[in-house]
Amino acid sequence: MLVTAGPTREHIDPVRFISNPSSGKMGFAMAEAAQQLGAGVTLIHGPVNIPHPDGIKSVEIVTARQLFEEVKKHASTDVVIMSAAVADFTPAEVHKQKVKKDKSSSELELEPTADILSWLGRHKRNGQVLIGFAMETENLVKNARRKLNQKKADWIVANSLSEKGSGFAVDTNSVLLLGKQAEQKISGSKKEVANKILKHIFEK
Ligand code: CTP
Repeated sequence: MLVTAGPTREHIDPVRFISNPSSGKMGFAMAEAAQQLGAGVTLIHGPVNIPHPDGIKSVEIVTARQLFEEVKKHASTDVVIMSAAVADFTPAEVHKQKVKKDKSSSELELEPTADILSWLGRHKRNGQVLIGFAMETENLVKNARRKLNQKKADWIVANSLSEKGSGFAVDTNSVLLLGKQAEQKISGSKKEVANKILKHIFEK
């Protein structure tokens, strides 16, 4: 199984970047749960501050573009779990030197990054299982179902930021696991949630 985790960082200059508060905890928990099921696991992750899971081969990336390149190298795995919080936009230009405030404008030109899960959906092998995540602040089911369909994922783990017990840096999570037909609510510690997600998908 291939698991991606944590945030990406999109640098503006050597001292500034665009990112998000993803801690990597849920993605690391998914990798550990996959390993416990007996799978060979490759973990690709952005900059995180949490202990690395024992015995799991991992690759560290910084940007969405690097994540995409690494995912493409491992895209033939039986299962891909896209828990990474990938930046949707990146600065059009990365300055080599620190941008000085008196010599810059207040505008920042951005360009879209590749949607990695959509790319995986378009290049899906026969029998490959694609699991995506969705972090929403409103219309959880509608937005997550749209992602399931548009990205051609088999499952979406939908997270609502407003749901009690879920969020970026906390140790618990409360998610809605959406499949093409079924929906299942799962809560607990991130480790428990990760185990229950994989049990639900693979032990049926
Ligand atoms: N994702 C991805 N590549 C991107 C953005 C997102 O592969 N450039 C993946 C994430 O890893 C996740 C899923 O797509 O599995 C949904 O990510 P999310 O950030 O919730 O949605 P977006 O597609 O970015 O849409 P929006 O920001 O409009 O909610």
